[in-house]
Amino acid sequence: MTTPPCGRLIGASLGPGDPGLITRRAWDTLCASAFWTYPVRKHGGESYALDIALRAGVPLPVQHTPLVFPMTHDRAVLQRYWHAGAATVIEQLQCGIDVVFLVEGDASTYSTFGHLARAVMQQAPHIEIETIPGVSSYHAAAARVNLSLADTDDTLAILPAGYGVAEVERMLHDFDTLVLLKVKPLLDDLLLMLERKGLAEHSYFVEKAGAPQERVVREVTSLRGTKVNYLSLLIVHNPHRVKLDMVRGCRKPATKERHELAD
Ligand SMILES: C[S@@+](CC[C@H](N)C(=O)[O-])C[C@H]1O[C@@H](n2cnc3c(N)ncnc32)[C@H](O)[C@@H]1O
Repeated sequence: MTTPPCGRLIGASLGPGDPGLITRRAWDTLCASAFWTYPVRKHGGESYALDIALRAGVPLPVQHTPLVFPMTHDRAVLQRYWHAGAATVIEQLQCGIDVVFLVEGDASTYSTFGHLARAVMQQAPHIEIETIPGVSSYHAAAARVNLSLADTDDTLAILPAGYGVAEVERMLHDFDTLVLLKVKPLLDDLLLMLERKGLAEHSYFVEKAGAPQERVVREVTSLRGTKVNYLSLLIVHNPHRVKLDMVRGCRKPATKERHELAD
């Protein structure tokens, strides 16, 4: 008896919440008969990624299972869950079944899919993996407020706000636009800093971009003292950033004096 060829692991980016932002390639993958997996934070918990697929009108296939990835910073615990998820996935792949992992936003941006795919590669290096790119939360958020994230030679940084307010403030020297993800725990402190630097009016808050519960806030200081969802971000445009002179199409290297000028 011959064993069937292994299935493929496909990370299907579904965009941040609006089914209209699912790419045709992700759509075709959803509609092909495959085994669906999707992330949940705890057993029996809801999956935002699955919700996007279902709201798009694709019926849940018979073969599907949630994979638990808890919200913790404990790397050892996370590793255990990534490897347990990989083992579940590999079991199906070895039966010759393609496994689709549903991804909220884009699979290459702070996504669990990266961890899952790495764990699969470690346990079964022969497995073929495909990543389907998608619309990220911050691309959808910028479009929602008709904001250009970067023009001409503007600099743009995307980072988790967990680096802390001081680091975010420092980065305002170097970047025309900052996209701050995972802002929930630090929102009040970030807002105070933005107000102090005269940047609150150049900031945008977007929660659950594209989902029915989407919230766009332009008066960001009004959020002080309120609770926001984990799926929320800030886009900060810094029109006050001191730009260096252009020399033959390149900006001169930054000097300490220029940094101090911007303070
Ligand atoms: C683990 S990262 C996932 C990023 C996602 N892969 C993407 O492409 O946008 C989670 C963070 O992304 C941001 N995020 C993800 N989805 C969002 C949405 N629909 N609306 C607003 N922010 C979102 C939030 O800052 C959240 O804390």
